[in-house]
Amino acid sequence: MNKGELLYEGKAKKVYKTDDPDLLIVSYKDDATAFNGLKRGTIQGKGVINNRMSNLLMKRLGEKGIPTHLVEELSERDTLVKRVSIVPLEVIVRNISAGSFSKRYGVEEGIVFDSPTIEISYKNDELGDPLLNRYHALALKLASEEELQTIKEYSFRINDELKSFWSGCGVTLVDFKLEFGRLPDGTIVLADEISPDTCRLWDSATGKKLDKDRFRRDLGGVEDAYQEIMQRLRDNI
Ligand code: TMP
Repeated sequence: MNKGELLYEGKAKKVYKTDDPDLLIVSYKDDATAFNGLKRGTIQGKGVINNRMSNLLMKRLGEKGIPTHLVEELSERDTLVKRVSIVPLEVIVRNISAGSFSKRYGVEEGIVFDSPTIEISYKNDELGDPLLNRYHALALKLASEEELQTIKEYSFRINDELKSFWSGCGVTLVDFKLEFGRLPDGTIVLADEISPDTCRLWDSATGKKLDKDRFRRDLGGVEDAYQEIMQRLRDNI
């Protein structure tokens, strides 16, 4: 399958048309942004790692009954995916306090929750992805009640699967962001990516951050952290 016209260029990926109107090619870049694009940089090799990691994790989720957009990895950076219309919501599941949760509620990072939390934001860069609840999502017609229910159920199941997988790699899954899409027949599938860009992953023994927070917070060792988390995954998948 060959890349056709560039359909869309996002902050970390390019999306190309293919000869098949139902399929797209996603191409992962090394570009990194944070704070809604205010901070920009490059993480050498990130695209290769995120492509591979996302595909391995989505394949695993698919085997556990979570439908995803994944069709086939084409090369180091390119993956064939089903064309979906993205549900304009960012779904964040948290197991441990960190990031915007800690800031918003004035609590330290690292508090382990008794049960996971879920929140949704309106995927809209111009507005800064504002937080909303299901009533807002319904009022704005971003998704139907049934779709919101499906998205919530899938998100918690994905958390269970990913948490236990990463735990076997000596890694704690702190939180992550998911995006879902609709196939032409309306079926909801997991889309976008699951990678160190979209998850907080802490070494279970040392607490070392092995994700994009190293870039966001200027902690150094960004490339090494991406390599290390990928190696942990390779050793355990
Ligand atoms: P937050 O604590 O900044 O809200 O981030 C929660 C999780 O979502 C974290 O794992 C990083 C991920 N995330 C994204 O993937 N994209 C984003 O634009 C933001 C803000 C967070």
